Amino acid sequence: MLKLTPAMGWNSWNTFGNEINEQLIFDTADTMVDSGLLSHGYEYLVIDDCWSEKTRDESGHLVPDHVKFPHGMKAVADYVHSKGLKFGMYSCAGNLTCAGYPGSYEHEFIDAQTFASWGVDYLKYDYCFHSPLIHGKYLYRRMGLALENCGRDILFSACSWGADETQEWIKTTGASMWRSTGDIVDTWNSIRDLTLQQEKLHPYNGVGCFNDMDMLIVGMHGKGNVGLAGCTDVQYRTHFSLWAFLSSPLMIGCDIRNMDETTKKILTNDELIAINQDPAARQPYRVHVDFGYPRNEDVIIYVRHLVGGKLAVGFFNLSDKKAASHLNMDELGLPVSCGKTLSLHNVWDGKTYTVDNGTFHWTLEPFDCGVFVADIIDL
Ligand code: GLA
Repeated sequence: MLKLTPAMGWNSWNTFGNEINEQLIFDTADTMVDSGLLSHGYEYLVIDDCWSEKTRDESGHLVPDHVKFPHGMKAVADYVHSKGLKFGMYSCAGNLTCAGYPGSYEHEFIDAQTFASWGVDYLKYDYCFHSPLIHGKYLYRRMGLALENCGRDILFSACSWGADETQEWIKTTGASMWRSTGDIVDTWNSIRDLTLQQEKLHPYNGVGCFNDMDMLIVGMHGKGNVGLAGCTDVQYRTHFSLWAFLSSPLMIGCDIRNMDETTKKILTNDELIAINQDPAARQPYRVHVDFGYPRNEDVIIYVRHLVGGKLAVGFFNLSDKKAASHLNMDELGLPVSCGKTLSLHNVWDGKTYTVDNGTFHWTLEPFDCGVFVADIIDL
């Protein structure tokens, strides 16, 4: 299965962990449609770990937990499909999943068949308990081949957390996305760490196989499986802006049945989603914040070329202090001498700014961001 833009959807893990069941999935499917999330592009509903019985059946097939999913997975898939959504599930390259349920090791082909027979459209494939004797690239290639040959289009979502130099081999496996980070938790430090860790991996992101910075924590506010401290709405907005800007898949992790208006507004910013889904998925670059001064790791300006000649420009303050930032047009290939400049449209407040002296100054509140779509105009 070839997925040309970052996947968008919802995943059960961040909030629900082991506390999943059929009714939760039905209600979440309803909410994805009724709240408008589907119409903004969130199409995959993914059940993560903890969905199966602890043992396979006599013929070696995975069995859905009888209490959590009393009507089986085909019934769940049918319901999800009836709402116009796509259905995702989870397994693992080890003999156990990370939470200790049966993994797909040495059952890759039979499991791919099972997922296909249930109507699965997306498989997240984890890396816990894998054999220390077999390199991950062989394990992911196996499942990649099993999925490509199972008779159904199933998006392969690899989840080896960037371990064992995943970036060097993941594109050989048929995966459409790969977890380029460890697990997110609901704290500001986690957002900051994942963002900075990601920088050296930007060159590996691109059409057909996207760097997955992990599921979103927007709107969790400390509740749920990876809940911990929680973040402020400003921090969630910066988190969403970063993930969207960097072409990460956008998989919602909060309980959308209870999402508040601010959370919904963050998750449905269509201009940011358009940056995320830009068909070229070009590599972002980082420019200097203070020309001639040492680099401040915590204040970042990223720029990306979009299809059609526009630029996306993002200012991100990862620190708890107010910060000034200065974007110099020279670094963008637009010195004053070329007679061109930028008109910047702020995707969060709709205001437009023109750069008239070769430098754009933007002040950032603690943890805040500014994201702009910029046109090249005459000076
Ligand atoms: C790993 C993955 C998480 C989640 C859990 C489930 O930690 O990275 O995203 O799937 O396993 O156990």
